[in-house]
Amino acid sequence: MKLRFLLGPVLFCAFTLTAAAEPLLIRFAHVVAEPTPKGFGAQRFKQLAEEKLAGRVNIEVFPSAKLYDDNEVFSALINNDVQLAAPSLSKFSIITKALQIYDLPFLFNDHAAVERFQDSEAGQNLLRSLDSKGIKGLGYWPNGMRVISANRPLRTPADLQKLAIRIEPSKVIQAQYQRLGAIPIKLSFADVRDALRRELVEGQENAWSNIYSQQFQTLQTYVTETHHSFLGYMVITNQAFWEKLPADIRSELEMILAQVTTEVKAKALEQAERDRQAVINQDNVKLIIPTDQEREIWRQAMTPVWAQFASQIDPKMIAAAQAANQPTTP
Ligand code: SIN
Repeated sequence: MKLRFLLGPVLFCAFTLTAAAEPLLIRFAHVVAEPTPKGFGAQRFKQLAEEKLAGRVNIEVFPSAKLYDDNEVFSALINNDVQLAAPSLSKFSIITKALQIYDLPFLFNDHAAVERFQDSEAGQNLLRSLDSKGIKGLGYWPNGMRVISANRPLRTPADLQKLAIRIEPSKVIQAQYQRLGAIPIKLSFADVRDALRRELVEGQENAWSNIYSQQFQTLQTYVTETHHSFLGYMVITNQAFWEKLPADIRSELEMILAQVTTEVKAKALEQAERDRQAVINQDNVKLIIPTDQEREIWRQAMTPVWAQFASQIDPKMIAAAQAANQPTTP
């Protein structure tokens, strides 16, 4: 027998053994810095997955928009160029109206209310709302309630008149600020710091961890603690990729994700408090904490935007979200 006939199957076997032994590469792209709840979650997922599935998976994490910006990540995920992402819920308005509910101002009282809603049937249905687009929602991660920073004091909604304010690409947020007479400007997260530095925008809204990790407070003097909306994430994957994973790897990754989600929830609350303190410790920063009456004025000024989106957001979803503001009795 000619040598090449003998070598063929041997080489083929060697190749398939090597190929089978290659760990599966999973790329996770996000836009924030590592010391934030999402940055922590992505790293922790990598650590646990590579520990529990040693030699079988390799997780590459790309923070700070090093691989894709939030508006690019959806198509990258659909093309399977990246397998995991966790865009802010407000960024999903590029591809669906279903998640606009999260941007309605003064819908949720606090983190706990958001968590109750996300755990409810309505919240879980939203997690599945992207199935038809080839995107699978794996879970929710929180960051925090939004505050507004600016280079002028924002004590009442009227103080926003003509303020150029950076926002995420959400039609609800845009309409909210337009109602207040501000000039909302949609910018990628990666561009915010530079836009503030060059005074292209005069303010922005965000969660404390994003403000502190980007050092926005070095470029802004006032922060108003409105807590008018919630900044959180949906962890998403390419549906076909996920379904084709070997069943044992997929279920292990889902268990790891559930553990990481629990840790991110605890981390988000603790980090919001720590980063808030670090921001207000800085000499140039003045914190404005609205009283209950002042907060009511903010609420009255912002909530008329709900009517503008009444035809796009399911009223049953809104009712479920409002119901989640009531703590459940044990
Ligand atoms: C993020 O937390 O992922 C970014 C939020 C933003 O764009 O402000």
